[in-house]
Amino acid sequence: MDVKTVWMDGEIVKLIDQRLLPGEFRIFEARNYKDVAFAITEMVVRGAPAIGAAAAYGMAQAQLQGRDLEEVARHLRSTRPTGHDLFYATELMLEASRKGKDLVKVAEEYAEDSERRCRAIGRHGLNIVREGSRVLTHCNAGALATVDYGTALAPIRAAKEEGRKVFVFVDETRPRLQGAKLTAWELAQDGIDHTVIADNAAGLLMARQEVDLVIVGADRIAGNGDVANKIGTYEKAVLAKENGIPFYVAAPVSTFDFSIRDGTEIPIEERDEQEVKKVGSELIAPQGSRARNPAFDVTPARYITGFITEVGILRPEELSSLKKEVLESRGK
Ligand code: MRU
Repeated sequence: MDVKTVWMDGEIVKLIDQRLLPGEFRIFEARNYKDVAFAITEMVVRGAPAIGAAAAYGMAQAQLQGRDLEEVARHLRSTRPTGHDLFYATELMLEASRKGKDLVKVAEEYAEDSERRCRAIGRHGLNIVREGSRVLTHCNAGALATVDYGTALAPIRAAKEEGRKVFVFVDETRPRLQGAKLTAWELAQDGIDHTVIADNAAGLLMARQEVDLVIVGADRIAGNGDVANKIGTYEKAVLAKENGIPFYVAAPVSTFDFSIRDGTEIPIEERDEQEVKKVGSELIAPQGSRARNPAFDVTPARYITGFITEVGILRPEELSSLKKEVLESRGK
């Protein structure tokens, strides 16, 4: 993309307002950490790595404004509970501030490093996205969900750059339609052939063997390889296994949480029921009906063929080898 998903301009944290895409391209300006927190909660910026980068810039802005960084970190962490990058980034920024570092510089490095890791994910993903591959993806794990380039969309972009013909099935991804609104928009920008499908159509297309592989992103990955991602991912994993279709998760080290043993320890965000009862501003359910709106689900490791990371493609049982990379990325 020509612009990054989030960056800093002087003391202002600037973000692409993803609530308005694909209809309108507008930049949201966050003037203090409370604006950054609002942008995360209201999904001006969304996607685990992008939320992490926004929080890193929010901490840098707070240092410039002489605020209590522990308090700022607490406030930013109170926005959305599931994505690990938010906690990874705020902890990294707090550690840097304790060492007296210039957080604007640290945040810039964090953003550049995040993009570098996404491009490495793309390169490693070239081993599985071949000429003519038909890939299904869920939600948006593209440039908009990171600083740039994406995670699940990275191997698809890299294949395109290699001149390979790739086709993408894009789950619309109810209730907030990140697939139809954001992933399709990104693929259209890049001239990558794709079609948007209703979330419920994936099973039929898999059963008909019209899908060669599934690649999704992740919000938090437990030490045993259980993965939290957008609601509906678990179903796709079960369908893929049932139909003998490889199921890959693309994610950088900032998304892995080795402090938890398995997926039962991942907090799952429940969002406002209006997101389910409405499409845009149109009410699609009776006024009086209740709705449940869990934003993420957990896919057990046994459904995952491999993790596409910046150090290579790893099977769930090989994840412990990533611990070292996680520590190094934290400067430890
Ligand atoms: O609610 P969202 O839009 O923040 O959910 C985003 C996802 O589930 C993405 O797949 C995940 O964060 C990976 S982004 C590279």
